Amino acid sequence: MYTNFKSPHARSPVTVPHLHELKAKGEKIVALTAYDASFAAQCDESGVDVVLVGDSLGMVVQGRASTLPVTLDEIVYHTSAVARGLAASLLVADLPFMTYRDADTALRSATRLLAEAGAAMVKVEGAGYVLDVIRAFDQHDIPVCAHLGLTPQSVHKFGGYRVQGKSKSAAERLLADAHAVQDAGADLVVLECLPAALAARITEELRIPTIGIGAGVDCDGQVLVLYDMLGITHGRRPRFSKDFLSGNDSVAAAIKAYAQAVRAGEFPSDAHAF
Ligand code: KIV
Repeated sequence: MYTNFKSPHARSPVTVPHLHELKAKGEKIVALTAYDASFAAQCDESGVDVVLVGDSLGMVVQGRASTLPVTLDEIVYHTSAVARGLAASLLVADLPFMTYRDADTALRSATRLLAEAGAAMVKVEGAGYVLDVIRAFDQHDIPVCAHLGLTPQSVHKFGGYRVQGKSKSAAERLLADAHAVQDAGADLVVLECLPAALAARITEELRIPTIGIGAGVDCDGQVLVLYDMLGITHGRRPRFSKDFLSGNDSVAAAIKAYAQAVRAGEFPSDAHAF
């Protein structure tokens, strides 16, 4: 119970340039969410490259209907806990709804996540006005992950959690947004719930790595919500997810099976894609 979470046998820390090297070498990036030190240590020791403190914690930890009520204080609290569990995985923290509405607010919010909580990168949803925010982060050497497609903070505008980029015009807009976030200085981009063919095209055209969730196998890496991939999410598991605990006898074995399946290009299958 009284554990020092830092493993003495840690691998080399994962860095932003390392993620770019993985893309250049055609090696897949394995990412998972975590919200506390114990699960973070399981991810770290199982070889996960990127651990994301997602605002999905509002739904899977707090039991809320959306990510919108999650506060910056809550993300700081969970990111601090996750940081104590990690030795090597790169720690990315979500900026919650309205905490990056302009560049000044975003820089103040990101300072808390990097300086106070121990994150190495922040994640923001969308393009449009967010491009100025990404530029401000880039100018201040704050690594940033963009998030396009089904951006959950826009759920009310979308009218639900729906696959994005299905029409020709929507697909062209997403492709343009992907280039725009890269040109603004994003280091990574999460592509959530969009047609696999569109995600493949974005991945091929971008220099920065793409991390898919419900975006097909051709992304440079994959991310899942930890509780979905352990099969413990309340209610219906999203179609793009898979229960890796089923058939494995521990959390560590499930995470290792997920990492192995992503690196081998065996997950996601067509059944998990749109
Ligand atoms: O909040 C989150 O967990 C996320 C992932 C689903 C990418 O944004």
